[in-house]
Amino acid sequence: MEETIDQIHAKAISELDAAADIQAVTALSVKYLGRKGEVTRFLRNISRYRPEERAAIGKRANQVKQELERSFKDVAERLEHTGAAKKERIDVTLPGRPAGHGTLHPITRITEEICDIFSRLGFDIAEGPEVELDYYNFEALNIPKNHPARDMQDTFYISENIVLRTHTSPVQIRTMEKQPPPVRVIAPGKVYRCDSDLTHTPMFHQVEGLLVDEGISFGDLKGVLTTFVHQMFDPHTSLRFRPSFFPFTEPSAEVDILCVMCRGSGCRVCSNSGWLEILGSGMVHPALYENVGYDADKYTGFAFGMGVERIAMLKYGIDDIRKFFENDARFLRQF
Ligand code: PHE
Repeated sequence: MEETIDQIHAKAISELDAAADIQAVTALSVKYLGRKGEVTRFLRNISRYRPEERAAIGKRANQVKQELERSFKDVAERLEHTGAAKKERIDVTLPGRPAGHGTLHPITRITEEICDIFSRLGFDIAEGPEVELDYYNFEALNIPKNHPARDMQDTFYISENIVLRTHTSPVQIRTMEKQPPPVRVIAPGKVYRCDSDLTHTPMFHQVEGLLVDEGISFGDLKGVLTTFVHQMFDPHTSLRFRPSFFPFTEPSAEVDILCVMCRGSGCRVCSNSGWLEILGSGMVHPALYENVGYDADKYTGFAFGMGVERIAMLKYGIDDIRKFFENDARFLRQF
């Protein structure tokens, strides 16, 4: 006796239930729905039924065909997923690979150390933008357009009136604009100059200092910076204030410390001078007070700016500034 279409259907479904992998499902699909498959053959031989039965049986056979197509597809998809999951399963018994401990970058550490020293002296931390208006970076600091002092700093211009700040001094102006005296802040941050060699990178870090109040003198500047150097390096490090020029301070001084390598006898690091320059400083120029609306007859103050990389190089005896930015873990791990 010939099988009915429903018997073929039932047989196909039970075999599908037993299929363990995709290959088995593919084989069943060929067996039932392929060109010589059982369902296909059943349909091809529909003429053996009586004409009045054919329509109903044919319709049922087509239904079975569609149902089986869907079932094969569903099971194949399910097997594919569980198979993939099996392949990616994590073996929790394997020994782990420990993540290395990170450490602070030497520039971050030195910046924090500088800020800590000044915090203990009562300075607050201030910040300003790295993309700065020409006005704050130059103009308000008494450096007009076309002033030769602009040549001291190779500037990255974003547009005619916007620059990457070449120093942290614009934070002096921004701070004074925001508050009346007394002012006592330090401002750490990135600065940019179009310059690159053994001792210069296009981006480096500075810490700015500003103190404005009644009766502040050059003696206060000397006292604060001496305390700073003695805490940063060691209490026996000598300082030297050398007359200099900055448009935003008057008088201005560059500060040298006795060479940390040779202690003054002269070596390669200090170019045989026995001294190392560490920062620029001076008494705030009265023109700045005018720009921010302070009473220049009533208030005086001092400002200073130091390069963090330079301090770090002296403190750790590093001879190439670029090492800080190459991210060689063997170098960075030493600090
Ligand atoms: N802004 C100066 C520089 O980058 C340093 C400086 C700051 C000098 C404050 C005097 C007062 O070279």
